[in-house]
Amino acid sequence: MKAIASAPGKIILTGEHFVVYDEPALVMAINRYVWVSAEDRSDIEIYISTSLGVSGSFNGEMFKPEIGGEDAKKILEPIKISAEAVLKNLNVKRGLNIEVSSTLPIAVGLGSSGASAVATVAAVGKLLGANLNKKSIIDLSTEAERYVHSNPSGVDQTISTYGGVASYKKGRRIMHLKVLSPIPIVIGNSGVDRNTGKLVNGVKLKVEKFPNVFKPLINAAGKLTIKAIDALKHEDLETLGQLMDVDHGLLTSIGVSSEILDKLVYAARRGGALGAKLTGGGGGGCMVALSNLDKRDAVAKAISDAGGTPIIAEKVDRGVRSWIVK
Ligand code: PMV
Repeated sequence: MKAIASAPGKIILTGEHFVVYDEPALVMAINRYVWVSAEDRSDIEIYISTSLGVSGSFNGEMFKPEIGGEDAKKILEPIKISAEAVLKNLNVKRGLNIEVSSTLPIAVGLGSSGASAVATVAAVGKLLGANLNKKSIIDLSTEAERYVHSNPSGVDQTISTYGGVASYKKGRRIMHLKVLSPIPIVIGNSGVDRNTGKLVNGVKLKVEKFPNVFKPLINAAGKLTIKAIDALKHEDLETLGQLMDVDHGLLTSIGVSSEILDKLVYAARRGGALGAKLTGGGGGGCMVALSNLDKRDAVAKAISDAGGTPIIAEKVDRGVRSWIVK
């Protein structure tokens, strides 16, 4: 028997990084997915293969790489942690074959690690016949996110589990927003790899060093997201775009933008975007532009001319799904 789960990636419209400091974020699931399949093995190893071309097996803490050498361990470990979290939760000891594939570029701020953790938890849960509810899926996938960076806000796993567009605050219930009109976005991938954990930690060090400077910035970002939620509720994309521009300024001041991200952001604005900002951890990775539908292609071209890879993505209302294939 085999179980499969799919989980969407996300973009953050406003509030990344500040969400780690208990401020709200405005976040949207997108139609790019991670798929995970899980099936039983006759031994107790956890064998993982991925569409990234790395594979290997874990026997407890021992790792045996198949493709990708010792570096494979770092990529595969969060998947193993997610699978083990489910086995432990259900008090089950058994081996698994896990296969991960994705249309979500990794490590660029589109929530690939969160979606991988969520899909792994859902697939393993389904295989074991457990009816994991959304809250359990989020809780069980949090361990892997902690491995990726020590202080995750939980935003990635939560939106990947629920789907849609929502406001998220650490430790609170996600608040879905009913938006009937499209939210046309163009993502721009800078192609520069970065590490969310390092960026989150860099911000933490500055918050500790300059508390009186950073606290008002964090506070302003929270207020900005509340305004952005209100703008989206009223389908006022122009105001949302303006607030995204301000948010990029706040993210720049806490040190998580970069030269290429700024370049793509300014190019998108010049190309007719209503607003543009980095999205996710920053430091490279992706930016996102909000535009009217008729300007979307021009914004994509502006991003491409400035050296980024444009991705036209849509909101998806459905989060994680899992099913059995015989
Ligand atoms: O870079 P991503 O897609 O993992 O997004 C991280 C979002 C942060 O706010 C920077 C971190 C967090 O845990 O919320």
